[in-house]
Amino acid sequence: MSERGGGGRSGAAPLRVALLGCGVVGSQVVRLLRGQAGDLGARVGAPLQLAGVAVRRPRRHQDVPADLLTTDAHGLVERSDVDIVIEVIGGLEPARTLLLAAMKTGKSVVTANKALLAEDGAALHAAARESGVDLYYEASVAGAIPLLRPLRESLAGDRISRVMGIVNGTTNYILSRMDETGASFGEALEEATALGYAEADPTSDVDGFDAAAKGAILAGLAFHTRVTASHVHREGIGEVTAADVASARAIGCTVKLLAICDRVVAAGGAESVGVRVHPAMIPRSHPLAGVGDAFNAVFVEGEAAGQLMFYGRGAGGAPTASAVLGDLVAVARNRLAGVRGAGESAYADLRVRPIGETPTRYHISLDVADRPGVLATVALAFADHGVSISTVRQEGRGEDATLVLVTHTAPDAALAATVDDLRRLDVVREIASVLRVEGGGG
Ligand SMILES: NC(=O)c1ccc[n+]([C@@H]2O[C@H](COP(=O)([O-])OP(=O)(O)OC[C@H]3O[C@@H](n4cnc5c(N)ncnc54)[C@H](OP(=O)(O)O)[C@@H]3O)[C@@H](O)[C@H]2O)c1
Repeated sequence: MSERGGGGRSGAAPLRVALLGCGVVGSQVVRLLRGQAGDLGARVGAPLQLAGVAVRRPRRHQDVPADLLTTDAHGLVERSDVDIVIEVIGGLEPARTLLLAAMKTGKSVVTANKALLAEDGAALHAAARESGVDLYYEASVAGAIPLLRPLRESLAGDRISRVMGIVNGTTNYILSRMDETGASFGEALEEATALGYAEADPTSDVDGFDAAAKGAILAGLAFHTRVTASHVHREGIGEVTAADVASARAIGCTVKLLAICDRVVAAGGAESVGVRVHPAMIPRSHPLAGVGDAFNAVFVEGEAAGQLMFYGRGAGGAPTASAVLGDLVAVARNRLAGVRGAGESAYADLRVRPIGETPTRYHISLDVADRPGVLATVALAFADHGVSISTVRQEGRGEDATLVLVTHTAPDAALAATVDDLRRLDVVREIASVLRVEGGGG
């Protein structure tokens, strides 16, 4: 990238790029653009020129030429000499207003903003369509991992039935440490914070908001329908205990925070999609179980393609910038060719199923009185809600008796109601652990 020209081997006029935000991701976008100017220009077929970089505090950005820095992001996106806008500010506003203004004035847009896409993707796509420009957002889900373009393009000929992934590195680091060391959630979070994996306010990661936004984006692309963050059933990892992790280990599982998007066809033929984010036990033999540290991985099941897995670094400045640059090259090529890439595909217009209707399985660990008839009483609570038990095991005797049950698949509402009933039984002293089980048979 050259700020002042050059960088392309053809005689084509340069394409001018405005960068909004120069933080963790934006600073790496600038570094890679400058370091690879010649190659990028050659790949696009025209030089890419940085027209300006909008930030809040210019004095903090000594490595960016001073005459490119501006605090007037609105002025920058509306400039007539800008062709492409990259948004890496984050959050809803002013990012939304800036992107809408950019597209209205004919610029193609690249963004890493999952929160905005999951909240207001429909308005952004409509603006792109009306102005005939591109809206690309590969970096918004799973950082460096090429995932959205494969869903949008490579798998456009298939029917995706399920997307299940680890899409938040912070929570994966915490759960991996709990699994490896037996640490409590609090201890593992402290370690993640000290290492810079968790932010000072970890709410967005720990409570599953970040993963929910990504789940909404993935479901929309996979099933050709509109899903927003508010549709996503969300549970975080704050209540996962060392005992849950130990229970998982005892049945050959590990605990992961999963974003699960599935398409279900009811008996009458009506299709619906479900999107949920929650901690779940998965068998150690499942490919996602081996995804440790802060890595991300997404498992996709296509009717024709079968099972696919995408794995890599889901965050960090350089990995995320790699995805941003891939999008930049794509939209620059489109612009040069006078075409638009694939726009929104939401024709299927599917109902989003509430969690209560979603088929799930539970692992339940109960501290029970060790006396005759307990098992029958407990089994009756399951039967009352039509939930069938897959395995049951008793650990310990007397005061220490624990019943560990794994159910077959049932609607989540029936499983939740069973747990409520179990809580009220005299023979159940405490419900030690309840977690959903994924990735095995039904
Ligand atoms: N960090 C990651 O690993 C990662 C991974 C995937 C996706 N993303 C997404 O990438 C986006 C950026 O994340 P980040 O981690 O790079 O954020 P960040 O480090 O907080 O950087 C934000 C940048 O935006 C600038 N900014 C904030 N408000 C502004 C305004 N009103 N006008 C102009 N500039 C403004 C800031 O300027 P100052 O520097 O002057 O304060 C800063 O340079 C987010 O949407 C995030 O979800 C991040």
